[in-house]
Amino acid sequence: MLHDPNRIYVFDTTLRDGEQVPGCQLTSVEKIEIAKALEELGVDIIEAGFPISSPGDFQSVVELSKAVTAPIICALTRANKKDIDVAAQALQYAKYPRIHTGIGASDTHIKHKFNSSREEILTRAVDAVKYAKTLVEDIEFYAEDAGRADNEFLARMIEAVITAGATVVNIPDTNGYCLPEQYGEKIRFLKENVKNIDRAIISVHCHNDLGLATANTLAGIQNGARQIECTINGIGERAGNTALEEVCMILKTHHSLNLHSGVNSKRFSEVSGMVSRMMRMPVQSNKAIVGRNAFAHSSGIHQDGVLKHRENYEIMNPEDVGIEQSDIILTARSGRHALKHHLVRLGYEIERINLDEIYERFLLFADEKLSISDDDLLLIMGEGETFINGLVMKSIEVSCGDLNSPEARVKLQYKGAEHEAAATGNGPVNATIKAIESIINKHIELKEFTIQAMHGGSDDISKVNMRIYYDGKSYMGYGFSTDIVKASASAYLDAVNKFL
Ligand code: KIV
Ligand code: ZN
Repeated sequence: MLHDPNRIYVFDTTLRDGEQVPGCQLTSVEKIEIAKALEELGVDIIEAGFPISSPGDFQSVVELSKAVTAPIICALTRANKKDIDVAAQALQYAKYPRIHTGIGASDTHIKHKFNSSREEILTRAVDAVKYAKTLVEDIEFYAEDAGRADNEFLARMIEAVITAGATVVNIPDTNGYCLPEQYGEKIRFLKENVKNIDRAIISVHCHNDLGLATANTLAGIQNGARQIECTINGIGERAGNTALEEVCMILKTHHSLNLHSGVNSKRFSEVSGMVSRMMRMPVQSNKAIVGRNAFAHSSGIHQDGVLKHRENYEIMNPEDVGIEQSDIILTARSGRHALKHHLVRLGYEIERINLDEIYERFLLFADEKLSISDDDLLLIMGEGETFINGLVMKSIEVSCGDLNSPEARVKLQYKGAEHEAAATGNGPVNATIKAIESIINKHIELKEFTIQAMHGGSDDISKVNMRIYYDGKSYMGYGFSTDIVKASASAYLDAVNKFL
């Protein structure tokens, strides 16, 4: 397997260690869906489950082995024949099966979990690997709680299991205890002191109890490990496992490490969302790489910087993790540059609008709200003197109902002068637009017109979208009001002001 010395093999345990989280249990169908996404992502090994733990887990490993064929499919066991037999049976359809067996390596585990001795544990470890090797060729051995184990004893154990046939040796920091230097040192110690270490791949499996899982994994691979065990979104027991997307993006970002994986990072955002939804585990907003805010800029200084040159405040390209573009979130901390950015995106020509005045209105609005949406922005644009020398609605009066045909009287301000007109139509909106048209005196075609209630209820705000054609070009306009006639007039004026 080890052809390229700089290749890092990615072992995903979302479906085993990740699924151990209370409330995150998945059905077989969901597991297969996630496994297929992991296969597409390009992971090298999928740990599909712990088959002896339940009939459901057993069946999931069987089904997954049939459905997913590119990666190695791995099943977990304890160091005993029964577990190993069941795992081998569950893996019978896997194209590339691997058994992952192991036992505690720290004195704490040896004494207080197994009530045993180092020598006895060593024998059990070797026996388990030898037995598993009779059933499956690819055997990974885990030395549980290796993070707290004595290095000399750990080296003896690792040498013995490699002799017994282990192809991969996993050195878990089961309790997330190690400091990066300590963990890196441990991997280096094994590299330098286990005589047959070149016959196996060293794997790192770090938990995040002190928030060091990613740092420890990195220290491990910098010191010679070539397989990383991780989960999507870093889910897993207690504070979780190493987040797959974090380590892979470190490798991609820091070329000086000269290490790479076969993972397609452009799928991170999608797979992260899928795992989060299926496991009912929301991703924290500030989670590195896949959190909602990972590529969102909200302070004025940062927004200005990132709009001037993305790399001022971004060390990764959002497209590399499957996010179309960074987010410039409009809040009361945003500056004119960010506001301008969004107005241009919404189709406004900056030279044609009173930016200072709009910015004042924006700040008043933003102080009331946590963040400003596109609808909020359009609402702000629909009020006051938005356009330089634009048409401004001064008043509208309409009469309609069964007695008279609908009539509208509008008063507009244009370049400092007031203009008034009245018109009739087949409804109050039609009459209002005709009255405005008679003031503008241009041939304008109304192509699209939709009225939408924002929330529901007769006291609701209506949102009007209009598309008009003038001189071979189309212009969008938006208007908001609790009065649908006013909302329609605002949308029309908003569109007209874009070319007037
Ligand atoms: O954390 C751990 O030690 C484990 C082993 C079972 C590999 O998950
Ligand atoms: Zn674990």
